[in-house]
Amino acid sequence: MASTATSRMAQAFDELSGDYDDAHHDAVAAELTRWLDPSAGRAVADAACGTGAVALAVAGRWKGSGAASPVLAVDLSAGMVAAGRARAERAGLAGAVDWRVGPAVPLPVRAGALDLVLCASSLHFLGRAALADWLRALRPGGRVGFSLPVASTFRPRGVFAELVAADLPLPETAEDAVRLTEAAGFTAVAARTFQVGTRAVLLVRAETPGGEGGRAG
Ligand SMILES: C[S@@+](CC[C@H](N)C(=O)[O-])C[C@H]1O[C@@H](n2cnc3c(N)ncnc32)[C@H](O)[C@@H]1O
Repeated sequence: MASTATSRMAQAFDELSGDYDDAHHDAVAAELTRWLDPSAGRAVADAACGTGAVALAVAGRWKGSGAASPVLAVDLSAGMVAAGRARAERAGLAGAVDWRVGPAVPLPVRAGALDLVLCASSLHFLGRAALADWLRALRPGGRVGFSLPVASTFRPRGVFAELVAADLPLPETAEDAVRLTEAAGFTAVAARTFQVGTRAVLLVRAETPGGEGGRAG
């Protein structure tokens, strides 16, 4: 992403951070996390974490398990990350998340370092390059779980409409989402619709090629 677009993205979400719809996003993140069911202590990243909906859902599930490694949570917006840190403090999860302010593409990890990448409500901003980076960052047989808006009901407003990635056509159906994910190079792809109140989103889970059939993450 060019630097002007990066700073516009960070500024837009900084300005939104005090008034972010945590209820909707927490519901999506909780369902994605429940579906992927990450094993305690695995190397998990929350890509474009915002206020930490996914990272906090994972850390909450791991609480009391003695999991050694914190969830890596990366976002461009310092305001969103600050709100996430405050939420973690309130939830007693302060040490359970490794917060980073910066680009999520590429994720700040070496190749093959991760067992699981989760990305809720953000891939449509990150664009196609994120899918390629997750193939790099995950180990063979690693897993990914993400959500995307449904094409026909997605109506971003104002600056957010301009910030949506142009290179990732949004899916309309679960079948479209499977095709998009397989075309990016993932295997064992499953997708389904998840309804939050009046809003539907698509949830996708998949694996990187080369696993031995056992579960990584
Ligand atoms: C709609 S919010 C979703 C946040 C969070 N995942 C959730 O479920 O609530 C989209 C987030 O993507 C972040 N973002 C967009 N492009 C990014 C990039 N290239 N690198 C890191 N974060 C990015 C924004 O700052 C924002 O916090």
